[in-house]
Amino acid sequence: MAPEEFTVTPYEVKGRVDYARLRELFGTQELDAPLLERLRAMAGADLPPLLSRGIYYSHRDLGWILDQYQKGNPFFLYSGRGPSGPLHTSHLVPFDLCRWLQQRFHVPMYIQITDDEKFWFRPQLSRDETRRWGMENLADLLAVGFDPKNTHVFFDTRSIGAMYSLAVDVAKKIPYSTVKAVFGFPPSTNIGLVFYTALQTVPAFYPSWVSGRPTPCLIPCGIDQDPHFRVTRDIAEGLGYPKPALLHSQMLPGLLGERVMSTTGDQSDNALFLNDSPKEVDRKLRKAFTGGRATVEEQRRLGATPEICSVWAAWRSKFAESEAEFQQITGDCRSGALLCGDCKAHLIGRVQGFLKEHHEAREKAMGWAESLIVERAPADAGTARPERP
Ligand code: TRP
Repeated sequence: MAPEEFTVTPYEVKGRVDYARLRELFGTQELDAPLLERLRAMAGADLPPLLSRGIYYSHRDLGWILDQYQKGNPFFLYSGRGPSGPLHTSHLVPFDLCRWLQQRFHVPMYIQITDDEKFWFRPQLSRDETRRWGMENLADLLAVGFDPKNTHVFFDTRSIGAMYSLAVDVAKKIPYSTVKAVFGFPPSTNIGLVFYTALQTVPAFYPSWVSGRPTPCLIPCGIDQDPHFRVTRDIAEGLGYPKPALLHSQMLPGLLGERVMSTTGDQSDNALFLNDSPKEVDRKLRKAFTGGRATVEEQRRLGATPEICSVWAAWRSKFAESEAEFQQITGDCRSGALLCGDCKAHLIGRVQGFLKEHHEAREKAMGWAESLIVERAPADAGTARPERP
């Protein structure tokens, strides 16, 4: 593959991703300064790092979501997780943003846990395993700080009773040729995955379906998930639902200098897991890839390169607590005033502190996670709209 070539689908990220080019290929909009400023003003608070530092960089119809909100038709949030193993910090990206949006706009949050999808996708995982990871991951996601009174969970194999009628409507509108083209599935793909995209659409329509009132949906997600929602958006109006809006993030780089924080294969040192011990955090960050120079003398003289550094990426996406701190770290890195060892020691302490708090929140969330799982749709769901065969 030539260096400028890359592939991004929900099931495969290959090559060196050019994010600006990807936005063009997918036909999405740039998340530009005026739109961010409008969001900031409506939220009445500084933007969180994920927005102010460019990790979210693309969208579809965010302006429309804000228009509707101002007209008194508030949106709900939707994001999800395919449970194939323990979570690492980069998995929190959409959920950190959703938490901020929920707190600022007081809107409902829907979380989908796709244990079926991961079972179909990963030959070596059993259904017990994906279900168990689903509950584990859910507790971690809820610990991010969602309002339990305004948060709902579709746990696919457990929520299918609530989802199925709507999934049936959705599936009828999606030709096999679309799925084949959008996801690039080879003929050996199991038919579970072929059907699955219908289930990922369901939460986007569910509140409208239940209430009979078109309810705007905003989906923060990695840009790799956009293909699913292109399908969703294509069929939405034909079924009488508004097209969901999207906010797309870039994928975070891994600790070993990999372009994506993925741990597929035997790459567990490429990411910080939410259940890593303080010792593990120390060990992984000490050996993390940086943009530093070969010697201290050189680094003092020439400075280092934050843009290629995995430690800087961690400060940028989550761990620098204020804009001032982030600018300081970035500036001192570039000038050579900050050495990698000191920067790492600082981050290690910050990450350990975060994980300690996270573990406490997770314990609590364990107690109420069950109660948020949607198991049944209201008996009159869907009756407010005419049947559309
Ligand atoms: N397919 C996603 C994954 O593999 C899980 C998912 C389901 C999702 N619904 C979503 C992700 C909505 C983002 C937004 O992890």
